[in-house]
Parts: sequence; C-alpha cells; structure tokens
Amino acid sequence: MRTRVLAAPPAGSGLRPIYGTGDPGVIELLRFFRNPIELVAQRRAAFGDITYIKAFGLEFAIPLTADGTESVAMNRQKALAAEPAWGFLIGPFFRRGILLMDFEEHRHHRLILQQAFNNKRLRGYLDEMQPMLRKGVERLPTGENVLVLDELKALTLDLALEIFLGMDLPRAEADRINKAFVDCVNAGMSIIRKDIPGTKWAKGLAGRRVLEEFFRRHLPAKRASDETPDLFSVLCHARSEEGHTFTDEDVVNHMIFVLMAAHDTSTITLTTMAYYLAKHPEWQDRARAQSRSLPREINYDNLGEFTVLDAVMKESLRLNSPVPGLARRALEDTEINGHFVPKGTYVSAVGMVNHHNPDLWTDPERFDPDRFSPERAEDTSHRYAWMPFGGGVHKCIGLYFAQMEIKTIMHNLLLEYEWSVPDGYTWKLDNSTLPVPKDRLPVTLRAI
Ligand code: HEM
Repeated sequence: MRTRVLAAPPAGSGLRPIYGTGDPGVIELLRFFRNPIELVAQRRAAFGDITYIKAFGLEFAIPLTADGTESVAMNRQKALAAEPAWGFLIGPFFRRGILLMDFEEHRHHRLILQQAFNNKRLRGYLDEMQPMLRKGVERLPTGENVLVLDELKALTLDLALEIFLGMDLPRAEADRINKAFVDCVNAGMSIIRKDIPGTKWAKGLAGRRVLEEFFRRHLPAKRASDETPDLFSVLCHARSEEGHTFTDEDVVNHMIFVLMAAHDTSTITLTTMAYYLAKHPEWQDRARAQSRSLPREINYDNLGEFTVLDAVMKESLRLNSPVPGLARRALEDTEINGHFVPKGTYVSAVGMVNHHNPDLWTDPERFDPDRFSPERAEDTSHRYAWMPFGGGVHKCIGLYFAQMEIKTIMHNLLLEYEWSVPDGYTWKLDNSTLPVPKDRLPVTLRAI
C-alpha cells in the first residue's frame, strides 16, 4: 500500500502527520462502497489511529480510534464546523437545515427546534401515530418475497406525513413528496456533482424545488390555525424560552431537513432489525413474547418496558448505522489526538470505526443484543463505542422520537406477523447511498 502524508506538521509543533494512500478519490470511494468495514480495518493496520482518504476531489481525515471520533464530535477547540462539510455533501438539497448551521446560530435555532421534541410533544406524537400505524401494519402484503425495505419506507413516509405534516394527502401527492425526498437524499452521494440532466444531482435539485413549493403552499394555513399536534404546526408556533420564533423560510428549511433526517434513518433501522430478527428467530420469539405482555396500544411510559426490542435496536444500529459519519471541516489549523489537521481539511467521525472495533466489542461482526445487557454493558467500553446518533452539539435531536417510532412499529409487526429468510441468506448492502440492502430484503411474511 502506498503511503502519502496529508500535510507536514509545523516545525516544532510536536504534532504527528496523518498518513493515507493518496489514491484517487474514485478508487477510494469504490473501495468504501464495496466493503467499508474491511477498508477501516486495513487502514488502521497500515496507518494507526488516523488516516485520510480522498473523496469527491477532497481530502477527508478519518480518526480510527474512539478517542479520535470523540474529539471530532465534541469539537472542544471549536476549530471544526458542520456547515462547510455537510454543505458540500448535501447543501444544495438541505440548505439552512439545522445540521448546516454552526456555533451561535446553531444554538439559537436548536433551542427553538428543541420545543418540537420535548417530552410533552413526544407523548402527543405517540398518541397520534398509533391508530395509523396499526392500520398501516395490518395492510402489509403477506406471502413470499415481501420487500421489507419498500414496505417500511412507505409506512414511515405515511407516518411522517401524518405526524410531521398533519395532512391526509392523496396517494399520488404523497408519492410525489416521497420521490422528492429520496432524490434529495440520494443526490448527496452522487459522484457527478453538477446539474447535468439525468444525474442524481439534477434529480436532487428538482426534488428540492418540489419540497420548497409544497411547504410554502401549505405554510400560511398552518400559521393561521391554532397549534395542532403535528411538527409543521409546532414549528410554526414554536417559541424558545428566550422568546425567539422561526421565520417562514426557517420553517420551510427545517421541515425539509427534519423530514429527511427522520425518514430514511428510521426505515433503515427498522429494516436492519427485521433482517436480524429473521436471521435469528429465537430473538424474534423473545421480542414477540415481550410485546404480547404489553398493551396493543402503548403509552409513552411503556416504551422503557421493551427491553428486548431495545437491545435488538441498539445492536442493529451498531451493525448498520444509518448515518455512516459526521462531516466537519477545519476552519483553522488544528489537531486530532496529536495529529496535525491543516485548515480546510474535511474531517469525518465514522461510527463503524468504533462499532466494528474488536478492542471495544467482543466478536464485533456477530449479532449479539445481550452485549447491551447491564451485566455485559459493552457499549460502556468507551463513551463513543456506540454512537449511531452522533455526539456533541449536533447530536441527533430526534433520537427519542426515532426510538419511539421504531419500537411502536416493531411492536405492531411482532403482534401481527412472523417473518423469515431462507437458511444461509446474507444480505448485501449498497453503501453508495445510506446503507440499504441491495435486494430490499425479501422475506416470507405470515400473519399470525
Ligand atoms: C435511527 C434513526 C436516526 C439516526 C441513526 C440518526 C442519526 C443522526 C446523526 C448521526 C446525527 C448527527 C450528524 C452530525 O453530527 O453530523 C443526527 C442529527 C440530526 N437528526 Fe437524527 N437520526 C435518526 C433519526 C432522526 C429522527 C427521527 C429525527 C427527527 C424526527 C432526526 C433529526 C435530526 C436532526 C434535526 C439532526 C441535526 C441536529 C443538529 O444539527 O443540531 N433524526 N441524526
């Protein structure tokens, strides 16, 4: 393997350089798409606790230890910013979303946005979501080759439209909005990053226009009416403790970002859980037995009682994190755990670096939800051993919402159905977008 230095540390700084292969970005990206876990292990063996790879014509420094990922997420020296990095990756599609803001501006917006995710609102969302989720789950097709990814994606989108928008859209309109979101999300990982017709990039730009027009059209009615329990209405009326509110543009931008942030992440987690529960029927039985001991229509306080689903969810998020990495850019010369990071370098804290690290987890490739039990508590081996929701000031604002949604859907699925995959089936992930199964996870779904 070739060895190149990212940049020589300033003389007398005592900092060490960051090494990488210096191979062209396209080659590095293809390696990542093929097997990111193997790539991380190889780079750790070759370059130690940090490396850099080229991607999209840029150089990304990637810490390969938990201390390094923590240092990026916590950003104690305030030398790293999210907007210049996420802005490069997804800015044209998700501009002015909260993750594309930094420092004081981010704090200001986060305090208002936080109002939409407090305990009272979460309880309200849970009450709203249950009847439609139950109906949605009951409507699933049964038999062989039911594509879990597609079915769950449609279900979580319907849920998002109801809980986030508070609207009962005609199917064709719901599909149009879904497509716009998917196009925006996929555009971020596009290798061609220009508005050339037919490319993922061009589709993403068109998707953004659809979403902006949609939210602007519906905003006046939301503003004018009393607050209802949907996110759109909550954001129109939200007021931070300091009395700040969102402008119309803010509401549109935050709605587009939050819907994106919520949708595929939850779908991927549910699909990953469905996969492992199909591969490990003993865990499916355990989770179902626990669901049967709880009421069909749960309340917020029941959520803590899903101990089996909780462990399965955490293990699924460890093995297949929906958001592969946190993206940042150095605003000035800085360092990560003693390594020199020059101004302008892109930096990524990549969850799988820790999630598959044998120093932090026993037999990390094995599905073993009991590793999260109080007795074993492997997730406490390091503060960042388990980090699917990120960390620091940008830590996922929807993490309790996500866990509530995921457990409620799984609870309903377990009570209605059993599902299985053929013996020896192993899924293959497409890592060129957010990590989804290439075959969309076909299962045999049987009503019980
Ligand atoms: C299992 C599902 C989810 C996962 C794995 C996940 C993961 C993440 C991660 C890793 C970040 C941090 C990115 C960074 O620092 O660069 C993040 C941020 C964020 N997430 Fe989630 N997320 C999930 C679900 C949700 C849901 C359901 C919502 C909303 C309802 C949401 C809203 C957000 C928002 C608004 C941010 C940006 C926060 C900020 O910049 O202050 N997420 N998420």
